[in-house]
Amino acid sequence: MKRIAVCPGSFDPITYGHIDIIERASRIFDVVYVSVLKNSAKEGLFTPQERVELINEVTKGLPNVEVRIFNGLLIDFCEEVEAQAIVRGLRAVSDFEYEMQLTSMNRKLNSTIETIYMMTNNNYSFISSSMVKEVAKYGGKIEDVVPPQVESALRGKFNPQ
Ligand code: PNS
Repeated sequence: MKRIAVCPGSFDPITYGHIDIIERASRIFDVVYVSVLKNSAKEGLFTPQERVELINEVTKGLPNVEVRIFNGLLIDFCEEVEAQAIVRGLRAVSDFEYEMQLTSMNRKLNSTIETIYMMTNNNYSFISSSMVKEVAKYGGKIEDVVPPQVESALRGKFNPQ
């Protein structure tokens, strides 16, 4: 049986913190689906298609990673691709409450799909897509927190030539 995991998120845009989790998951599972989902609490900067293109570019060295857009519940996506696990990164205590709610709700919807948390690498524990967008918006330095393709996509959004 193939070990299949889903790395879900809004990825608006993908950061080195996300990439670290996806890479580590790809070493443990046979197939990792990166699932671009809607977080109804967040306004998007990139379209889902733009997010997928960026994720594809920055994960192209990982042959067992596939990127998908899904309009609906994370658990429905997991069932569709027959995943046994959801993998999420945990940065700090401040993430914990939301993550606990998410996991509990997903477990109510399908108790056979396990959620696994990986502690984010210390170098990335302070990164969030929201902060990256804010720094990029005001022309700050973001090259340490996102790959070059994402940096130029952000510059394109905020400083279209
Ligand atoms: O990167 P994020 O924004 O922290 O990811 C949150 C995400 C997209 C994984 C979450 O909002 C989600 O699963 N959205 C899809 C709808 C859903 O299944 N919600 C959870 C049950 S309420």
